[in-house]
Amino acid sequence: MLSFTERGRGPALVFLHAYPLDSSMWRGQIEFFSSRYRVITPDILGFGGSQPARPWTMSQMGDELGTLLDHVGIERCILAGLSMGGYISLPFSLSNPDRVERLVLAHTRARADLEAERTARNAMIEELKKAGTATLPEKMLPRLLGPDAGEDVRSFVRSSIERTTPEADMFAVAAMRDRSDQTERLSSLRCPTLVIAGSGDAILKVEDCRAMAEAVPQGEFVVIPQTGHLSNLEDPANFNRAVDDFLRRFDSK
Ligand code: MLT
Repeated sequence: MLSFTERGRGPALVFLHAYPLDSSMWRGQIEFFSSRYRVITPDILGFGGSQPARPWTMSQMGDELGTLLDHVGIERCILAGLSMGGYISLPFSLSNPDRVERLVLAHTRARADLEAERTARNAMIEELKKAGTATLPEKMLPRLLGPDAGEDVRSFVRSSIERTTPEADMFAVAAMRDRSDQTERLSSLRCPTLVIAGSGDAILKVEDCRAMAEAVPQGEFVVIPQTGHLSNLEDPANFNRAVDDFLRRFDSK
């Protein structure tokens, strides 16, 4: 089963992390939300405590998430996935509408990789085979963090990347490359969904994130200014406020 951390009491709030990080990227959210929620942060297979690495697909990782929820006795949760975490959270929510009461999709997309993106994934896998993780921080840091990210965040993300193994990275890159397109399914997403974008995200365009929110019947959209792809780490106060506003609105209904 996936390794996870758990803190707080209340409705279950599950955060799924980005590539190539682990559940520790949610440090600022665990601190903030555990006063009102039961915050669960799983490590995706091969990352953090979820060892050993082995190949996986988005739908298998959704099954792993379901097993974890069963194990901790959670029937329904609020699910928040960032980037790769969103690639897992979206199909999981569509296939398990009774288990997800609200969804947060941060810095992620519904569509599959384009051909050029698949080619880049294959090049990354080759590089990981040849050089291990040696060049990964240099490749990923400019993609993940905006120019305004502070030094502490930069070194936190660097050391998270350095902790990963080439196997875990290769399997995650292959899972992202092979993920299926969810765009057509967005209109059947039943739960209220908050889509979060970063104004300086090097991986995703703000307009594409907005379009994804607009395709969801109960979709909402927020842009976190002056952040890149990891707004939860780059500007935890604004990220937490956006999620908190969304959650409180429905808590009071
Ligand atoms: C992530 O942040 O999870 C990944 O970098 C997203 C991606 O490469 O598509």
